[in-house]
Amino acid sequence: MKIVILSRSTALYSTQSLVRACMRRGHEVEIIDHLSLDLLIKDGDMQIKSNGYPIGPVDAIIPRIGSSVTTLGTSIIRQFELMNIFSATGSDALMRSRDKLSCLQMLASKNIPIPDTMIMNYLSFNQGFFKSHMKLPVIIKLLDSTHGLGVIISNSVKSTESTIETLYHLKQKAILQQYIRESSGSDLRIFVVDGKVVAAMQRIAAEGEFRSNLHRGGTSRMVRLTDQEMDDAVRSAEILGLGIAGVDMLRGKDRSFVIEVNASPGLEGIEGTTGVNIASKIVEYVEKGYHNQKEKGYANRSV
Ligand SMILES: Nc1ncnc2c1ncn2[C@@H]1O[C@H](COP(=O)(O)OP(=O)(O)OP(=O)(O)O)[C@@H](O)[C@H]1O
Ligand SMILES: [Mg+2]
Repeated sequence: MKIVILSRSTALYSTQSLVRACMRRGHEVEIIDHLSLDLLIKDGDMQIKSNGYPIGPVDAIIPRIGSSVTTLGTSIIRQFELMNIFSATGSDALMRSRDKLSCLQMLASKNIPIPDTMIMNYLSFNQGFFKSHMKLPVIIKLLDSTHGLGVIISNSVKSTESTIETLYHLKQKAILQQYIRESSGSDLRIFVVDGKVVAAMQRIAAEGEFRSNLHRGGTSRMVRLTDQEMDDAVRSAEILGLGIAGVDMLRGKDRSFVIEVNASPGLEGIEGTTGVNIASKIVEYVEKGYHNQKEKGYANRSV
């Protein structure tokens, strides 16, 4: 097969790992910076060009789209999909999964446990509403937080109110979330590919820190999941329509809560921690997707 990896940089660990896996499995592989692609939609015909030239035959794409270019990335993936080329991450699923709040709504509506979550109105902080549903401390989370930046712990009603007011004043969207005390500075990253859990790790926050992000100095180790955690992770990916997903959970007293589902999860931390060759599992998934499409007579390779 000819596989295109959409990635901003050839030097990234995840990109490199995918390239090696493609080559080991006998595929031709090309890395294309999605920001360099031009799309043409003309007379009902779709074309994708790189520097004005066709990019040649492609059997499948593996998008690695960062959250800062979700909308553009989605349009590019959609164009490939409309040309009947299999994408390891679907355009609709990518768009859906980047809206953290609607993800939580969708998961909760399908009985996936999430921490109690409140969206306070923009006009005034309703103390009565807050006090009757949330226990201190609470987490204040910017909807576009990343690497733990934009996740705040608040120990009083007054500081919650003033922080929320400040964020809204700065035109930042934020949610309030019940702090899961039992998880005490650790979370689970569960990697799902093609409806199966392929690897999992526990991330542990640095001393004195409540955020377990590796970017915030956290460390990681292998972890054994409960059947319930595995089931919830697989179902979360399925609900959001993701063939590849990094599902993040917090372990509470009686059960674990999903806090986030990542559509473009990094491979470095999880491959390094667990020794699982996740890139290979992703390429196997892509092979299967391509062959399914081919059997249905949909496969196309001319771009
Ligand atoms: N409700 C919560 N209770 C306890 N700890 C939490 C809660 N929400 C988040 N945390 C801690 O803060 C960390 C960062 O939160 P979260 O993953 O939601 O945002 P982010 O890491 O900034 O976003 P992204 O994962 O998209 O980069 C979590 O890994 C966890 O350790
Ligand atoms: Mg996170």
